[in-house]
Amino acid sequence: MPLGPASRCRTIEIPTIQDSRGNISILEGAEILPFTVKRVYVLHNLVENQDRGSHAHKKLHQIITVTTGSLVVNLDDGLSKKSFKLDKPTIALYLCPMVWRTLTDIAANTTAFVLASEMYDENDYFRVYEDFYAAALGKAHS
Ligand code: TYD
Repeated sequence: MPLGPASRCRTIEIPTIQDSRGNISILEGAEILPFTVKRVYVLHNLVENQDRGSHAHKKLHQIITVTTGSLVVNLDDGLSKKSFKLDKPTIALYLCPMVWRTLTDIAANTTAFVLASEMYDENDYFRVYEDFYAAALGKAHS
């Protein structure tokens, strides 16, 4: 069975410096940041268990991590599905293009931040699963 892009999505351990005053987690360098960041956005004031996402991006690369709380990122590339729980700011998830993602199991007081490879572009979204699925299967068989 061919591997889809979800196989390239992976957790990243964020190097963290700890001392008696607290911790600093640092995202830098190509190992940790596999793309040039053009946009940063923060998900905050999230409503507990109110799912978000439910879309895919055509070209966008992203890294998501939570600073407080927890959530589950569910991935589907049309060929396979997998889920990652994010619950600490020392672990991030790299999301590559052409992966349908849904954020579920959002705990109370969760704050997440997202690093993105491009500025916001509505044309980069698939918002209808069937459209995404047809494009994903087309790519898998081309
Ligand atoms: P969206 O990416 O659809 O997030 P979710 O799937 O979690 O709802 O974004 C929600 C809205 O915010 C949508 O109208 C697009 C807008 N938006 C921007 O204008 N700029 C951005 O950088 C982002 C991430 C969203």
